[in-house]
Amino acid sequence: MLKVAVFNFKGGTAKSTTVINLGASLATAKRKVLVIDLDGQRTLSFGLGLDGDMPTALDFLQGGQVEPMATKVNNLFLIPGALEMFQLQTDQDLFTPALAKLTGYDVCLMDCSPGLGITSVQAILSSDRILIPVICEPAVLKGLSEAVQLIREERPEVPIDVVRVRYRPRLLITKEAEELLTEAAPELNYRLLKTTVPENIAVAEAIAHAIPVTEYASRSNGAKAYRALAKECQGVWQ
Ligand SMILES: Nc1ncnc2c1ncn2[C@@H]1O[C@H](COP(=O)(O)OP(=O)(O)OP(=O)(O)O)[C@@H](O)[C@H]1O
Ligand SMILES: [Mg+2]
Repeated sequence: MLKVAVFNFKGGTAKSTTVINLGASLATAKRKVLVIDLDGQRTLSFGLGLDGDMPTALDFLQGGQVEPMATKVNNLFLIPGALEMFQLQTDQDLFTPALAKLTGYDVCLMDCSPGLGITSVQAILSSDRILIPVICEPAVLKGLSEAVQLIREERPEVPIDVVRVRYRPRLLITKEAEELLTEAAPELNYRLLKTTVPENIAVAEAIAHAIPVTEYASRSNGAKAYRALAKECQGVWQ
């Protein structure tokens, strides 16, 4: 099982949205996918239609027997988040033993909270790759280099992929930000993925309808982009 932490120090960069829609697109491409909600905000869980009390990622990390729940998408399974995730305090590695119990999944996407709390640090330490969604705005490189430096302190060699989200190609600020992202890639040692996910209202609406955009509006530009991202990731993540 390939473990991917979806992380950015900065908030609101479509981490949860990307876990939902990349997860759904990989599942549709016949991968068996597990998504884990590590954020007390539970955007991922609500975005996949979680309703009611289920065993959570907190139970899972604390050694409980948690059966990932099926979602409306075939092959896509969820371990939901818990409001109390914010309170988790520990010096022990909770992730390695918990993840080792999972069998049969091809990919596990972990949705980190913004900032660098215990669960994000542990997700970074225990993952095979990191995916960082970024928005192409003037301060993009500052935020990204902070995120990459935090990761590199713990994991000097882990592969890092950067995906441009809420992408608005016609704006001058986008072009300027992209130049910075391309120039900094070799130095900061990340891969700038070719696929971009456009700013697209269907993506935001789908979350409110608690289904992936690939199901909500499968012909929207957002759905097309997440399918293309899944294809690119499958190639890069071999
Ligand atoms: N491609 C898109 N087009 C339009 N809106 C988008 C797109 N991607 C994400 N959004 C919107 O951006 C907002 C932030 O997305 P999301 O919650 O996924 O970010 P996040 O990085 O997980 O945030 P946090 O750091 O709080 O966990 C949401 O309102 C979401 O609907
Ligand atoms: Mg989030």
